[in-house]
This record gives sequence, structure tokens and C-alpha cells, in this order.
Amino acid sequence: MNYRHIYHAGNFADVMKHLTLCLVLDYLKKKDTPFCVLDAHGGIGFYNLQSIEAEKTGEWKDGIGRFENMSLEEGDFNLYYNLIKDDLRQGFYAGSPVIAARMLRDQDRLIVNELHPDDVQTLTANMASFKGVRCTNLDAYECIRAHIPPAEKRGVVLIDPPFEKTDEFATLTRQMSEWEKRFEKGVYILWYPIKEHLAVDGLKQAARQLGLPRTWCFETLIHPRRQIGTLNGCGVIIFNAPFTVPERVESLAPLLREKMGLSGIEFEWLTPA
Ligand SMILES: C[S@@+](CC[C@H](N)C(=O)[O-])C[C@H]1O[C@@H](n2cnc3c(N)ncnc32)[C@H](O)[C@@H]1O
Repeated sequence: MNYRHIYHAGNFADVMKHLTLCLVLDYLKKKDTPFCVLDAHGGIGFYNLQSIEAEKTGEWKDGIGRFENMSLEEGDFNLYYNLIKDDLRQGFYAGSPVIAARMLRDQDRLIVNELHPDDVQTLTANMASFKGVRCTNLDAYECIRAHIPPAEKRGVVLIDPPFEKTDEFATLTRQMSEWEKRFEKGVYILWYPIKEHLAVDGLKQAARQLGLPRTWCFETLIHPRRQIGTLNGCGVIIFNAPFTVPERVESLAPLLREKMGLSGIEFEWLTPA
């Protein structure tokens, strides 16, 4: 396990993923009934953007850094930005578990999982002040299997692997059918990298074939899709995409494209809306 998210925290991919997470949670909060968030690859929850690691890549500067000190019009971007802006001013970035925890109500729950033995300890310390949060130290797919369907029967699962293993796409394709069988009403947010050698089309085809309703996907490019040896962009697939979330993400595309200098954002329904 060599991957450490500190090198990438706050980059364009985190912005896309965390914005989506906020919009999904915002939708779930429209009903009073409780929900459960399962963050299967949690990371450490909180990142120092002035650390040697973050400074080494500087990736956050072309991601959330482009929004620093910006006064934004009221709108959907603010839903996310308001949750993280105070940290940003102090040189920190909140990861998915902290963002989710900040959106929970008293009746909701968050399970955050992290496999790395050191990172899970940091994560647990970073999440200690939040109510309704439990940290686990399992393989992500085991953790999902153990916790779905949640008792609440409503919720979202975030799947955000590091893609260090060459067979991660194949693993995801296999695991997806379990999610569908165990918790077919769940919202699943799956993040993936776009690199020249990765079988993105195969992953999307598997997502289509799963047949869960309202499977929607968007892809963000920072380089030409087929450029060799670089991270060219990222994609997010949402299964059971809540009503209005695709439209809300699409309406933010001009802002995201302009601010982060994206070369493209593409949207696609993989199963009917
Ligand atoms: C992309 S990072 C997560 C970032 C986090 N979701 C966020 O948005 O702030 C992926 C994390 O998954 C962890 N990880 C790697 N393999 C794992 C596995 N099999 N099960 C659970 N976690 C794993 C890594 O240690 C890393 O912290």
C-alpha cells in the first residue's frame, strides 16, 4: 500500500468527487428519515496542504486552490465550498469523511473505512469530535459487504480506490453485482481515474449491464484522453443518481471548467434517467 492521499488532496479530482458527494447528501437530507453514509476508502480525513508531501506535487493549487479567497455567488458550489473554506484559509483540506460528517444530522450515521494501518489511526483521531461516526479498518469490499444494506435502508456508498492494483477495474466489475443484490436502492458514488492504459469503457459497460436505475456518469479531462503516462482526467459514476443531482452538476460545468482550466467535461446516462 504505497498510495497516500496527502499528495493529491484538494486536486481537481477531489473537487469533482466531493462536490458530487455534497449534492447527493443534500438530496438525501430533503427527507427526515435517517440515512447511512459508507465511505469505503476514507483516507485520513484531513490534509495539511503546507506539508512536504502536498507541496511536492502542488496538485491542490490547480484544484481547490483555484477557488481560494473567492467570493462566490450563492449556489450549488457553495454547498461544498462553505464546508471547506475555513480550513482552506488555514492551509488544510477536508477529505470525504470530514465533508460527509459535517453534513450529517443527528439521525444520520457515517461509517468510514481505511485499510492502511497508520492512516486508520490518523483518521480515527481526526473523526473523534464528530457524532454518529464509526471508523473501521477493513478491506473496502469486505467493509461494504458487511454493512449493506444499512439498517436505515437509505444511504450512499462512496467507492474511491487508489487504483494501485492493475486489476482494480476488474475487481470493481465483480463487486458491483454484489452491491446491486444486497442494496439495490442504495446510491453508489464510484470514482475512477482516466489514464491511457485503463479500460474505462469496460468499467462503464459493466455499470450499464448491472441495470441499476438512473446510472449516470460524468468525466472531467485535464489532458487529452489518450495522452500516455499521465492522469488525464477522472470519472464519477453514480448508481441510483438522486433526482436533480445530474442537472445540478451539469449546471456547474462552466464554473468548474473555467476555474480549473479543464479541457472538457462530458456527461452520460448509462441507464435510463
Ligand atoms: C483516494 S484515497 C481516499 C480519499 C478519500 N476518499 C477522500 O476523498 O478524502 C484511497 C484510500 O484508500 C485506502 N485503501 C487502499 N486500498 C484499500 C482497501 N483495499 N480497502 C480500504 N482502503 C484502501 C488508501 O490507503 C487511501 O487512503
